[in-house]
Amino acid sequence: MTQADLHTKASKAHIIARGKTDLNLLFEDRKASNLSLIQYLYFSLYPQDQFEGNFDQLWEKLDSLFDSRPKELKSQDVERVLAGKWFQSEHWVGMQLYADRFAKDIKGVQARLPYLDDLGVNFLHIMPLTTRPEGPNDGGYAVNNYTKVDPSLGTNKDLNSLTKELRDRKMLLMLDFVVNHTSDEFEWSLKAKKGEKKYQEYYFTYPDREIPDQFEATLPEIFPNTSPGNFTFDKDMNRWVMTVFNSNQWDLNYKNPDVFEEMLTQLVHLVNLGVDVVRFDALAFLWKKLGTISQNLPETHMLISLFRLCLQTVAPGVILLAEAIVAPRDILLYFGKGPFEGNECDLAYNATLMALLWNSIATTKTQVLYRNLTELPHKPLSTSWINYLRCHDDIGLGFDDKYIYEAGWDAQMHRQFLRDYFSGEFPGSPSKGGIFMYNPKTGDGRIVGNTASLVGLEKALEEKNTSLKKQALDKIVMLHGIILTYGGIPMIYAGDELAVLNDYSYLKEADKKDDTRWLNRPKQPWDVVATLEKKDSDASLIHQNIKKMIGIRKKEPCLADPDPRTFIELNNPHLLAYLRTQIDSQDFFMVISNFSPERQVIRVKHLTESGCPKSDELLDLISEKKISLKRGWITIKPYQLFWLKRI
Ligand code: GLC
Ligand code: GLC
Repeated sequence: MTQADLHTKASKAHIIARGKTDLNLLFEDRKASNLSLIQYLYFSLYPQDQFEGNFDQLWEKLDSLFDSRPKELKSQDVERVLAGKWFQSEHWVGMQLYADRFAKDIKGVQARLPYLDDLGVNFLHIMPLTTRPEGPNDGGYAVNNYTKVDPSLGTNKDLNSLTKELRDRKMLLMLDFVVNHTSDEFEWSLKAKKGEKKYQEYYFTYPDREIPDQFEATLPEIFPNTSPGNFTFDKDMNRWVMTVFNSNQWDLNYKNPDVFEEMLTQLVHLVNLGVDVVRFDALAFLWKKLGTISQNLPETHMLISLFRLCLQTVAPGVILLAEAIVAPRDILLYFGKGPFEGNECDLAYNATLMALLWNSIATTKTQVLYRNLTELPHKPLSTSWINYLRCHDDIGLGFDDKYIYEAGWDAQMHRQFLRDYFSGEFPGSPSKGGIFMYNPKTGDGRIVGNTASLVGLEKALEEKNTSLKKQALDKIVMLHGIILTYGGIPMIYAGDELAVLNDYSYLKEADKKDDTRWLNRPKQPWDVVATLEKKDSDASLIHQNIKKMIGIRKKEPCLADPDPRTFIELNNPHLLAYLRTQIDSQDFFMVISNFSPERQVIRVKHLTESGCPKSDELLDLISEKKISLKRGWITIKPYQLFWLKRI
């Protein structure tokens, strides 16, 4: 039994002993059991000799934060603790969407819940909903207020009604907590601009360039094309302020313990709206230190753990997702390390798998993917991945150079190849994506585009090339088939289930035209949804396949996390194969996919050597055909996906 299992068992016993209804006593218990860790973390960041009083204030604050939590959510918290590992079930399937682009506003999203239900989606990531500056606002990630719904999207009453219906339908809601920065119109930044020193100390502000220049010596640029540098001069305040992302996103200064307490308060108010999963936005950037790149610092991890333990005390049914799009080994650290293993974030984006799948699409080869993923240390058993093909952001190419060299390629040239491939510049590439924030100074640049356009559907339609179109459609199914079975919660981007192409309309909008990520934030085409009964359209074909695969996933306990995944070595550079098994069961689920435009042969002996139980015949759940293994080999078509089970 793992540490996490023991913990869950102990808390279950406790809850049962206390009687489920005694919510306050359970809260006191959690406070008592988390005290030493919370105190340790707090005083590691804010020295005890200076900040003892601040700690006492925080400790008391937890009581009022708990009091502010609606009773219904408190009871749900207890049910979730009792259920243990509730978020690791095969039952969850996610979709990411912007309320306005999906269905105009919050009410619109609520009206479309039956569509999501029918598809099998039961976990919604809705993009920022709260007030933001007019004009460029990073899609709402420039936050004017953490809990007040933006009038363009509806009202807090609408949000309440949505979260209530989500609970009734047993669907989960994930919202962002933009923890690293506020907008320059947030209450605190407005006060800072007016010269209030207290609020200037909530941010990193300086009278001249001395410290900013020292920071710039080591800080990378996140948005070099649209927001170069990491500081902005604010005329009202007559000071420089740190703005690592856009110039209207002011970085919060967590060295100030008041900022932590205030932000914890905001976080609890946010989850009290009925949020089940909090997406901790840009969390790798939280702590800043001169002479470093100010990402993934040890203090950042302590701070996240501190947030997590306080939130767990107040609202133990809410979990945290790390949005750390960083190097593979650095991502793992957001699950917590050493004594904090399992005490940081519960979920993290599997950006490594995401980037490597695209690498395999471009190269038709899977060895870089195998080497990267098989050599990564295991994540804690109590945690899980969000598996995705792409999100609203760019696709970063953050995998280890070591494995690119091992494959015989030069890392920098290889990344250039990937950018050329996905932007369609590379001769013969079927892709039609774009480039995000190419920085000639560093040679760094990322990729943008909708799944369907990146895999070649847009070009195939333009060229009326039917074989390219077939390949593109097969790639869409295959890639979704991987994120649905890898282990963790699959997160489909709204529109990808309908093979929606790139959206070029952003080029005509002044607020958006400089940010190429809008290429891959399309509107949901409800006119297409209305014609889904035409079974042979591209949209319909993809929709039917994804819906069917979701249905299969939900009936397969082998696909739950943390049940084991074993990569199968097939000695063929174009194939990706893994076996999912269930602890204490003979059952298995095998996934094989072919990243090449040629048919490939699979030797049955490689399957059995990798632990696949011996059998004469297997059933492929995707084609619904039996596959005989008697000849000693089987073949797999270009971009085909097998989901194999015992008959
Ligand atoms: C995250 C978001 C991205 C945003 C950035 C700054 O990375 O995903 O869209 O631009 O944070 O808030
Ligand atoms: C995130 C990621 C970065 C991404 C940026 C904006 O913070 O770390 O890779 O480009 O947000 O999309």
